[in-house]
Amino acid sequence: MAIREILVVPSPVLKQVSETVRVVDDDLRALMDDMLETMYAAPGIGLAAIQVGVAKRVIVMDLARDGEEAQPRFFVNPEILWASEETAPYEEGCLSVPEIYDEVERPLQVKLKSLNYQGEEIVEDAEGLFAVCIQHEMDHLDGVLFIDHLSRLKREQAIKKVKKLVKAA
Ligand code: NI
Repeated sequence: MAIREILVVPSPVLKQVSETVRVVDDDLRALMDDMLETMYAAPGIGLAAIQVGVAKRVIVMDLARDGEEAQPRFFVNPEILWASEETAPYEEGCLSVPEIYDEVERPLQVKLKSLNYQGEEIVEDAEGLFAVCIQHEMDHLDGVLFIDHLSRLKREQAIKKVKKLVKAA
């Protein structure tokens, strides 16, 4: 396993649409292992492959709270089968937009289909933080960042702040 570099805005790579994975094999599992290690080191609760520069429809996630045992989860080619009409705001952040947090309104519940680490198809319901996180990460697969859901002014301010942060590092 290896920690990979996380791309930050305004990297044009983050705007790419990721490709469907054709087979879940050892190479893909090695990518998922690296992504998980990178996410834990950041630290973060979710990461899409495009954030480490790989345009594949792969997401890793761990929503365990502090003190809880790790609960790594892997989503390959995730698809939303159903989303509730009811929406809710949640204050989101993103490893590719460091130190910026703002509210995004999304469906409260979704039904989701994906392949897991073994390549098995899983259909599951998501709500709460899981629903927020999976929708945020799935946006990444289509080149959409959470700041794209904000006003143009807020988005430009966020990118400016991240540029400053990167320069100071
Ligand atoms: Ni993100």
